[in-house]
Amino acid sequence: MHRGKGMKFVGDSRVPAVRKPNIPKDYSEFPGKTEAFWPNFLLKEWMVGAVFLIAFLCLTVAHQSPLERIADPTDTAYIPLPDWYFLFLYELLKYRYAAGPYTVIGAMIMPGLAFGALLLAPFLDRGPERRPSKRPIATGLMLLGIASIFFLTWQSVDSHDWEAAAEQGEIRDELAVEIDENAEGYLILQENTCLSCHANNLQGSPGVAPSLLDNPDYASEDYQKIAVEGQGDMGAGIFKGSDEELKILGDYLVEMNEKAAEAE
Ligand code: HEC
Repeated sequence: MHRGKGMKFVGDSRVPAVRKPNIPKDYSEFPGKTEAFWPNFLLKEWMVGAVFLIAFLCLTVAHQSPLERIADPTDTAYIPLPDWYFLFLYELLKYRYAAGPYTVIGAMIMPGLAFGALLLAPFLDRGPERRPSKRPIATGLMLLGIASIFFLTWQSVDSHDWEAAAEQGEIRDELAVEIDENAEGYLILQENTCLSCHANNLQGSPGVAPSLLDNPDYASEDYQKIAVEGQGDMGAGIFKGSDEELKILGDYLVEMNEKAAEAE
């Protein structure tokens, strides 16, 4: 039996019949001005890329990004601020006809027109001229765009209350409060399921319940009242202990808040 008998050989259109050797084109007319893309040019690119990558890695290690406290979705008073490169869009939304009922204008239509025009620029502006002075409309619009971005960014930096922002994002080290898990008050909180929502360190958990160490102005009676009657999203009747225990619980929370205030 012959080898390959009964087997049909078919061609594959993806494989070129004549294999061209990978030789860079001849640019000898332009001495010193060209080089082969592979591997000469690509190697240089990669080397520059590697330098930047390592530099960035070193920077991120040396300058850790500034952290704020843990995000708390129940805190509606927190005013988030976008990164600097989005500040101009953020500022735009503060203008009367770009905010409130007109949000669509500020958030979609205006940026949409600007970035859409940028995208379509090669199709809209087909003149052969390359000098900016010979293309007044394109140049004018571009300068206008740059000027507005600079102006809006500056405005938003200028009008932002940086001190209030630093305060609202401040990391308060409430864990600095030492919590004695054998204290009577703590055990009462535990027995009455308070800690299942307000967390074992009393710091609360985002989206579930607020911290219990944030209320330096509450008196023991305030705590006792909230424990029995609830408040807002916290239902009534959670506390099931005796009056005596209720008093211990209230006093304990006052004491812990005093400690927390000291620790700050
Ligand atoms: C089911 C979860 C849950 C349990 C269990 C619970 N709480 Fe709360 N608690 C909340 C929520 C949610 C709030 C925020 C209520 C609001 O103001 O909307 C709150 C608020 C509070 C506040 C007011 C905090 C502030 O900043 O004004 C106190 C004090 C408090 N709880 C104490 C207790 C005590 C004491 C117990 C145990 C007897 C307890 N909680 C059990 C969910 C809970």
